[in-house]
Amino acid sequence: MNDNITLPQVNISANMIHLGLGQPSSSLLPLNEIKNAASHSLSANSPFFLAYGKEQGNINFRETLAQFITGQYAYTVGPDQLLITNGNSQALDFICTHFTHPGDTVFVEELSYFLTLKIFADRKLNIVGIPMDGYGLDTNILKKFLNNKKPAFIYTIPAYHNPASVTLSLQRREELVQICSKNNILLVADEVYHCLNYTDKPPPSMGYWADQCSLISLGSFSKILAPGLRLGWMQTNPNLIQKLSKAGILKSGGGFNPFTSEIVNSVIRSGMLTTHINRLKDVYRQRIEVFVDQITKSFPKQVVFQYPSGGYFIWVELPEHIDTKSLRQAAKKDNVDFLPGSFFSSKNRLKNYIRLSFAFYSKEMLKEGVKRLGNLLSKYL
Ligand SMILES: Cc1ncc(COP(=O)(O)O)c(C=O)c1O
Repeated sequence: MNDNITLPQVNISANMIHLGLGQPSSSLLPLNEIKNAASHSLSANSPFFLAYGKEQGNINFRETLAQFITGQYAYTVGPDQLLITNGNSQALDFICTHFTHPGDTVFVEELSYFLTLKIFADRKLNIVGIPMDGYGLDTNILKKFLNNKKPAFIYTIPAYHNPASVTLSLQRREELVQICSKNNILLVADEVYHCLNYTDKPPPSMGYWADQCSLISLGSFSKILAPGLRLGWMQTNPNLIQKLSKAGILKSGGGFNPFTSEIVNSVIRSGMLTTHINRLKDVYRQRIEVFVDQITKSFPKQVVFQYPSGGYFIWVELPEHIDTKSLRQAAKKDNVDFLPGSFFSSKNRLKNYIRLSFAFYSKEMLKEGVKRLGNLLSKYL
């Protein structure tokens, strides 16, 4: 598939290389596989998936999904622990409906995914950023914040964080669960990149601790299959699933996405999802190698970043005096773009950072983009 095909949400000129884009290239969108799966589902005798579905998702899909997640996460997940969603963005909004009122406080990592910050801001929530380090959310600092304020929930991106690319260590995961359990606080774990590891597997997904504290783990097909499917899942304890399934939107609408669920059911049952994830990992591994090599050659030596071990991103620290919002204006004139660090801060900080991604472009384009940005940085530093 040609990578030059225009994608609806990507609104950039033909000469521009936007190194900030966090979505897969056209060549990684599995059109033929989805065609085959759809034709398999549509040739079945029963049209049950064209009817209103079960509120938490139809059982045959939840069973397939539970098996798939069990294989990926390496601990047993049952269908009664799953509620099918339209992806993590919608799941987060749904969680806001159930657990927050305008004006409530939520804790996020300082830094966090900028569009989650937008979802919370749309809900008029007061967003408080808790510092993180190379092991993820800093649980000691979290305890201090909790002395002053109890949030409606804590939101974390535990594996291959967007944008920091760090992974919450096992010890921190256990501490976080203990803290939430002791203080009776809901923990919302956005595990959208958990299955995209390029080296060792990360620690268990947070859903592993779902019976030890109030905890919802969110998974999505956006990064492992295709974002246009708008399909994902919530994993939590069966009692909470039953409570959430009583929501008016689920009762009235009959589950969030029964039609697409059945197509993805065929995708998983045919073994194609596992093959596709392996292909994605191969492609991303190769891209990272070229990308990092070119960054090392083209960026000035003062620039700091980590080699990514999963996910989509490289988080780059520039010297403190650089304001990456104005750097971005200059970069655009040179036909290269990125996302400035301040987008990811709940406090408009992190002005000297940029987020780069290797998800969207081929190796050649990534190389060219890095050369353009490197030239510009050399003039600035
Ligand atoms: C941390 C994080 N959460 C959620 C999303 C969006 O997920 P979905 O497509 O499942 O709504 C993204 C996409 O970039 C993300 O990085």
